[in-house]
Amino acid sequence: MNTQNVGTALITGASSGIGAAFSRQLASRGFDLILVARREKRLSAIAAELEKSNAIDAEILAADLSKPAGIERTERRIAELPNLTLLINNAGFGTTGKFADVNLDKQLDMIQVHVIASVRLCRASLPGMIARGKGSIINVCSLAAFIPMPGNVTYSATKACLYVFSNALQTELIGTGVKVQALVPGFIHTEFHDSSEFASFDRSQIPRPFWMTAEEAASKSLSALERNKPVCIPGFKNRLIVAMGRSGLANLLWKILTRYAST
Ligand SMILES: NC(=O)c1ccc[n+]([C@@H]2O[C@H](COP(=O)([O-])OP(=O)(O)OC[C@H]3O[C@@H](n4cnc5c(N)ncnc54)[C@H](OP(=O)(O)O)[C@@H]3O)[C@@H](O)[C@H]2O)c1
Repeated sequence: MNTQNVGTALITGASSGIGAAFSRQLASRGFDLILVARREKRLSAIAAELEKSNAIDAEILAADLSKPAGIERTERRIAELPNLTLLINNAGFGTTGKFADVNLDKQLDMIQVHVIASVRLCRASLPGMIARGKGSIINVCSLAAFIPMPGNVTYSATKACLYVFSNALQTELIGTGVKVQALVPGFIHTEFHDSSEFASFDRSQIPRPFWMTAEEAASKSLSALERNKPVCIPGFKNRLIVAMGRSGLANLLWKILTRYAST
């Protein structure tokens, strides 16, 4: 039983990577947790570990956020919560291949998980947070939002959408006591690149200094949230990449990276 009463955090994509790292760090700060993802056994193991090592309650919610039923189940759980302090829309995945050739259903699933689910869970959470005058939302975007990448068209587009949505929402909520952060990670060591989609992706093609651990990304995001930062781009190199992307150098940068990878 949790005696610290810090509030409840709901984290999507909590079964691995950045979501699991957020869950561990929030548990150590005394948050009760609701862990959302498809792999129920993974969620149960993480919830058991976190309840054992921290005086908190960790609940699991197995839901496929690419399906309306999974999103609706999560929305219903949010509506029941008396004290949702933090929502983290983190669930996501990538694909590879040219848009004209890739499986369309998977691209539409990506729009559901990255955009529709995130927008709907924000909408479900906000009335309660605004009424309580307190609460935070972190939407996990990507550097891809700033570098429209060939071979990654829907991924870049969904992350750009989530980034702009987060920024505009943050401004709209000024004065309500509710904060929104767009987290913009670069390359993170997680299971993201382990899927069959990335079978030919070699992590060593990306120079080591560009990689970060999930724990570092989650920690920098939470500390930026405490400092009321509406955007968190963890790492100087990633901030440089975003600046180049914003200045229109994105395509040039992508060509350089591609050339570097092929040497
Ligand atoms: N790793 C990177 O280099 C990187 C860089 C920039 C941004 N990001 C973003 O960071 C976020 C987290 O990714 P990660 O790197 O931590 O990768 P990860 O280790 O593969 O974790 C992805 C999480 O999303 C969940 N998920 C995927 N599809 C889902 C669905 N249909 N319904 C519910 N949950 C689903 C997965 O859980 P289940 O499989 O159990 O459902 C898993 O918990 C993603 O949004 C990703 O786009 C990652």
